[in-house]
Amino acid sequence: MTDHLVLFMPSGKRGRFPTDTPVLEAARQLGVHVESVCGGRGICGRCQVEVQEGVFAKHGITSSNEHISPFGGNEIRYAEKRDLKAGRRLSCTAKVLGDLVVDIPQDTVVNAQVVRKDSDGRVIERNPAVHMCYVEVDEPDMHKPLGDLDRMLVQIKNDWGFSNLQIDAYLYAQVQKILRKGDWKVTAAIHEPFEGGPAILVALYPGLKNEAYGIACDIGSTTIAMHLSSLLSGRTLASAGTSNPQIRFGEDLMSRVSYVMMNPEGREGMTKAVREALNELIGKVCKEGGIERTDILDTVFVGNPIMHHLFLGIDPTELGGAPFALAVSGPVNVRACELDIEVNPGARVYMLPCIAGHVGADAAAATLTEGPHRQDEMMLLVDVGTNAEIVLGNKARTVAASSPTGPAFEGAEISCGQRAAPGAIERVRIDPVTLEPKYRVIGIEPWSDEPGFDEQAKKVGVTGVCGSGIIEIIAEMYLTGIVSEDGVINGELAATNPRIVLSGRTYSYLLKDGEPKLMVSQNDVRAIQLGKAALYAGIKLLMDKLSITTVDNIGLAGAFGSFIDPKYALVLGLVPDCEIAKVKAVGNAAGTGARMALLNRTHRREIEHTVTRIEKIETALESDFQKHFVNAMAFPNKVDAFPRLAQ
Ligand code: FES
Repeated sequence: MTDHLVLFMPSGKRGRFPTDTPVLEAARQLGVHVESVCGGRGICGRCQVEVQEGVFAKHGITSSNEHISPFGGNEIRYAEKRDLKAGRRLSCTAKVLGDLVVDIPQDTVVNAQVVRKDSDGRVIERNPAVHMCYVEVDEPDMHKPLGDLDRMLVQIKNDWGFSNLQIDAYLYAQVQKILRKGDWKVTAAIHEPFEGGPAILVALYPGLKNEAYGIACDIGSTTIAMHLSSLLSGRTLASAGTSNPQIRFGEDLMSRVSYVMMNPEGREGMTKAVREALNELIGKVCKEGGIERTDILDTVFVGNPIMHHLFLGIDPTELGGAPFALAVSGPVNVRACELDIEVNPGARVYMLPCIAGHVGADAAAATLTEGPHRQDEMMLLVDVGTNAEIVLGNKARTVAASSPTGPAFEGAEISCGQRAAPGAIERVRIDPVTLEPKYRVIGIEPWSDEPGFDEQAKKVGVTGVCGSGIIEIIAEMYLTGIVSEDGVINGELAATNPRIVLSGRTYSYLLKDGEPKLMVSQNDVRAIQLGKAALYAGIKLLMDKLSITTVDNIGLAGAFGSFIDPKYALVLGLVPDCEIAKVKAVGNAAGTGARMALLNRTHRREIEHTVTRIEKIETALESDFQKHFVNAMAFPNKVDAFPRLAQ
């Protein structure tokens, strides 16, 4: 029999197959994930592909629609009933007749847009841990006393190959009703976290259930962000965020640990609070996505170690001091109901592994997204919060650490600081001659010196300065000579310029007069110096570990990293010298990593393996930390040069 070359795009996987091989079968043999709920009966439509026509010289293939079997039987019926888009074929029925280039359409893979904001053309194929498997079960027969469930299991094994299937206990009581309701046709949701590993029947639906959903969630100490995605198409249906209610127990991580230490009910209270907030968010995304909670069959959560522990109901006290022992560092796989998460009773929770006592599953997720471990270039990945999580490395070697940056970068402990919200100044420029500022405010379109600003400001109000604004204003103060390299506000300017004001024994810069008056004080500059020195010293220790003096590219993750202007991060020396074009905000990389792990179980294996290879550095124990910290107190740095900043 003649063999034909079949190339699957976008994965580029290729192989030779005999005439009449179903395209779906060819994909399976090559390890290309094409969804199939109905098991090739031509009724679910999940297995759609498109044939690319033309000469593909690079691949040595001439592909044509003539090289695939014509529409027939089930495919015609599906096309008539369901409106199969032009050019689409059902891969379970269409057969290979000649050389083919087959495209898995964008709604059946997760495209780069879904998983990354800065699309680089990378396409992530879906391979979720949950399979929806439709089966038609034999009706009961007095002469064959096999139970209803047992006959269904035989059918699942025959049609889908799952043997030794385990069953969630709650289903035993439901199976007979569901089988009869579906007239002996049911869809089994099977959770198989590892390819070929143990599989569990987690939910059962009457008839064809042609959808399954999952949530990916980043539990930040300040904000919780959640995405609802279809496990069968990869599409994100809804996203929502909320403040972490644990804030009422303590603003930053350490104060939450202290709260647990001081209050016998503290841990329980915070666990309950975060789970309630998660359940509320789940309700919100389900409403927006038009689905029921019980349609959610898989969930992925990430968070820093303290958020991770509190979500799991673990006392985080050990993380409050050396040796910062994690109760569990590996991946967590449990039933969602065991953590009071209100979704389908059979749904699972997967948590990515933590890297170290202060470098959590969120940093692991960001690593998965940005992939320093997949690069030749040396990448620095920084998630700036009250505690910065730092990962540095490339394909050959990766190291990680955390550094106590304090809350200044989030606008806390700054006299005019506030969280990023409408009314907060987020961008600042200072005239180098007059020292007059102009600024931009969240929720107000024009800059403060442009027409229309005053009108909008009356409605929104200008209330303070958020983290990115603080960085910009102090960087501008440094660039215009208001602040020296050592971080001292130049009091001599007060004699000639009303913007420099004596406050007690030090000077302040008047950013905004009127109500409220916003000043940047000497203490504010100090708070930023302390934060950025801690961050830089942590990075420096990792660079020392790898014996490098420069990095090739930098990813700034997290909410703060998304808004910070890379130029100002370099001006102040938050991060080491790097080509500005290669310093990028990578958005909520942790949330994206959670989505990748939700939609593709091979990413779970990838990050689990990577985390075991990452070398952990405990900054508090390194003798050079202090030296690097002192040098980094200066703008941009006492000893390290920033030659590329000048270019
Ligand atoms: Fe269901 Fe092809 S697998 S239509």
